[in-house]
Amino acid sequence: MRKSIQKIQNYKKEGKKITVLTAYDYSTAKYLDQAGVDMILVGDSLAQVALGYDNTTDIGMDEMLVFTKAVSRAVENAFLIADMPFMSFQIDKTETMKNACKLIKAGANAIKLEGSSDFVVENIKHLTQNGVPVMGHLGFTPMSTNSLGGHKIQGKDADKTIDILKDALRLQSAGCFAIVLELMPLQSSQFISQRLRIPTIGIGAGKFCDGQVLVSDDMLGKYDRFKPKFAKQYSSLKDIIFNVAKAYCSDVENGIFPSIKESFMLEAEEIEKLENYR
Ligand code: KIV
Repeated sequence: MRKSIQKIQNYKKEGKKITVLTAYDYSTAKYLDQAGVDMILVGDSLAQVALGYDNTTDIGMDEMLVFTKAVSRAVENAFLIADMPFMSFQIDKTETMKNACKLIKAGANAIKLEGSSDFVVENIKHLTQNGVPVMGHLGFTPMSTNSLGGHKIQGKDADKTIDILKDALRLQSAGCFAIVLELMPLQSSQFISQRLRIPTIGIGAGKFCDGQVLVSDDMLGKYDRFKPKFAKQYSSLKDIIFNVAKAYCSDVENGIFPSIKESFMLEAEEIEKLENYR
């Protein structure tokens, strides 16, 4: 059975750190789930790392639904969240609700959306009051890269940190069950985390958040177009894939693959019939 929001929120009270990773495909999601990750996020980062787009704003609802369904088929234990893509929650409340429900019907337990404008907060209230669990996302919000002037650290002084705290409190009051804090000094995220009832999940925000999230392709060393300073690379899957593909090509070219072991055989009498065929 998948973890519940109550369980995740209790981890904050118990001081147990919450683990979150992104997943976009069935088999990766299955292994992350079996490894015991608390929450799996079908992040819109898949636009870049899985689909090769330049920005997360390039992905739409139809694509998010395909990946959410694939991941959902694999996840048995973790709480599953799907990102609301760009323009799926910026039109009006009805459109936002429709899109959120599509992601829930695709298998997500909750949706995540970026920002804290009055419009977004009203949308969040509408969702949470109608039974759709919402995770917020503050600090650096990738959909707003242009208006933020690039990949810039947020909350860089006390006033800016207090502004983010005020936004976080508004999201908490609107019913968010947790909030991602992206790209900010560790003292800022600590200050905010200590003042919220709900858990904070950090990415590039230091160790004092209630949990941590990483883009799994960064963790695995699979995506190399951009390597964030905050991402810890635990493996170099890119090199493994490269070397395995080279070994495969060499085996095929040299007649080593397929061998008898990977082949199907005819019975001796059938071989004889073929040999006598004129
Ligand atoms: O899309 C994503 O992967 C995210 C994480 C970076 C939190 O939003």
